[in-house]
Amino acid sequence: MRGELLQGKICIVTGGTQGLGKGIALHLAEEGAEGIVICGRNAQNGENAAKEIRDSGCACEYVQADLTIEADCRNVVHTCDQKFGRINGLVNAAGNTKRGTLDDTTVALWDEIFAINVRAPFILMQETARVMKREQKGGSIVNIISDTCYGGKPYITPYSASKGALATLTKNVAHSLLLNRIRVNGINMGWTATPQEHKNQKYMGQPDNWLEKADAAQPFGRLLRPRDIAYLIAYLLSDRSEMMTGALVDFDQKVMGAWD
Ligand SMILES: NC(=O)c1ccc[n+]([C@@H]2O[C@H](COP(=O)([O-])OP(=O)(O)OC[C@H]3O[C@@H](n4cnc5c(N)ncnc54)[C@H](OP(=O)(O)O)[C@@H]3O)[C@@H](O)[C@H]2O)c1
Repeated sequence: MRGELLQGKICIVTGGTQGLGKGIALHLAEEGAEGIVICGRNAQNGENAAKEIRDSGCACEYVQADLTIEADCRNVVHTCDQKFGRINGLVNAAGNTKRGTLDDTTVALWDEIFAINVRAPFILMQETARVMKREQKGGSIVNIISDTCYGGKPYITPYSASKGALATLTKNVAHSLLLNRIRVNGINMGWTATPQEHKNQKYMGQPDNWLEKADAAQPFGRLLRPRDIAYLIAYLLSDRSEMMTGALVDFDQKVMGAWD
């Protein structure tokens, strides 16, 4: 049976076609969301994820979008507004996690990462806030940041910088939208087992079973899973968190970042 936490809510989840974003979208459906819009470039993944969400009893629309393109960002929001007539929640989960050091990062890679991780959330928040303001019923926005926003390792220079920018943007927009009761919060999430993280680890030369070892080496015995983050997002999108805005939640088990 579906829950009631998000009953009546219409939400957009970028990156909802795979990995973390898909895990979030499925959980929002479980918690009773009325409708969900997901987006991404890969139509096959998108249609499959949308079907899974619909099969769980929640209306769902997949919008093909490349979030490096301004018009595609705006179209995701317009499609949600046209189909459902309102937007109660936006989750910016899509992200580009490509590696790059100070020395080997090209300007093209820097721009690509910033376009997806910072500029797209900016456009999506701008467009979504306009719809939420029109409805005058407030709303909730959650940005997926990363614990690397505080600096990060040397091999993720542009990624860390982009997440730092997204953290600042989250605070700024929360301040901007206060009087509209549109809440904006961010999650500085730690290391999480996703299909993309598997690819990243393989790219860095780790063996197929890297996750087994990585899980065992954590203080709590495992890396985060998409579900862990999804529980917090459901809370942040729900009315239970109606007094919470401008928060950047450090979501990891390492506390002072010194474990490894
Ligand atoms: N895994 C971790 O350890 C970790 C830690 C901290 C933060 N995060 C954050 O968590 C989020 C998701 O990570 P993940 O590991 O689940 O990554 P993922 O599997 O690569 O998922 C990324 C999602 O974003 C979409 N996306 C990427 N580029 C896009 C573009 N140009 N236009 C539209 N959609 C695009 C992808 O869909 P298409 O490919 O179909 O476009 C996909 O749905 C990211 O924001 C990442 O920074 C992850």
